[in-house]
Amino acid sequence: MSDHAATLAQAQEKVEACESLDALKAVEREYLGKDGLVAELLARIPALPNEEKPAAGREANVLKQAILQALDVRRARLAEAAIASERSATGFDPSLPPPRTQRGTLHPITQVTRELEDLFHSMGYSVLDGPEVELDYYNFEALNIPADHPARDSHDTFFCEGEGKLVMRTHTSPSQIRAMESFEPPFRVVAPGKCFRHETTDASHDHTFHQMEGLVVDRNISVAHLIGAMKTLLRGIFHRDLEVRLRPGHFPFVEPGFELDARCPFCQDGCSVCKQTTWIELLPCGLVHPNVLRAGGLDPEEWGGFAFGLGLSRLVMLHHDIDDVRHLLANDLRFLEQF
Ligand code: DAH
Repeated sequence: MSDHAATLAQAQEKVEACESLDALKAVEREYLGKDGLVAELLARIPALPNEEKPAAGREANVLKQAILQALDVRRARLAEAAIASERSATGFDPSLPPPRTQRGTLHPITQVTRELEDLFHSMGYSVLDGPEVELDYYNFEALNIPADHPARDSHDTFFCEGEGKLVMRTHTSPSQIRAMESFEPPFRVVAPGKCFRHETTDASHDHTFHQMEGLVVDRNISVAHLIGAMKTLLRGIFHRDLEVRLRPGHFPFVEPGFELDARCPFCQDGCSVCKQTTWIELLPCGLVHPNVLRAGGLDPEEWGGFAFGLGLSRLVMLHHDIDDVRHLLANDLRFLEQF
């Protein structure tokens, strides 16, 4: 046996005897370290006669690789043994993959709200939040709906107990007054959020639903501005240009008030969504009533505005072909996991 073969055999024996990673490291240091045996062999080469140098170098390297390999094999064995002993001692298997975690998704209303917020943001609108428990003043009075006004009947209202006249807001329109109070005109805002109505629920009515209010205040605002903004909104939602039409609509806080319809984006000549009419009712809107501007502290001689109330719940239903509004807030995972 050559010197190297004997050295290798001895090294392999030591490696096999190691019972820990620390012990392996010590053997590695002894043979392959800075002052180890292999380093010593290499250091001797320059002093050898020239014709012996290449072979000496090659042999030292072969020895080094063989020792490295023995170390690797032993290291893998020790790791396996560590896992096996942990498994049998604790019943825990660190080599198993972790249990699959379930990732949630955003609620479809949240998805649509965020998409619209981005769209309006790109058109220069600010996004506002408003309280869900609202003063009667903001929900009705300041919106040109005084006590005893017949329009109050159509807003089946949840009244809050306690002091002050508090209601669960029946629409997002109170944000109009709050916006006029906190922004200097000209300004544009949208205010998405929950609304509440004390009414019998059915496939198209729920006690809680979502709207997005829009309000633009500027000088010389006309119906043309309103139509332009709504066409841009439609393009953002349906990704193409849709014909629109206005029908008269009555809301105390706008004059004139309209119902805006859009050509059905789902068909050419009638389908179940548009009830064979080729038009879908999209949103109520209008030019802000002078009394509302006054309530917001603005002079109607100087400032004008348009407003709209987009039904977010309805929009989500249209978008995903959902036939019952009550699915939206029922919190049933079988429904929610589809989005
Ligand atoms: N707030 C009204 C409702 O919920 C909807 C509405 C109508 C909002 C006309 C508007 C508007 O901004 O101009 O019944």
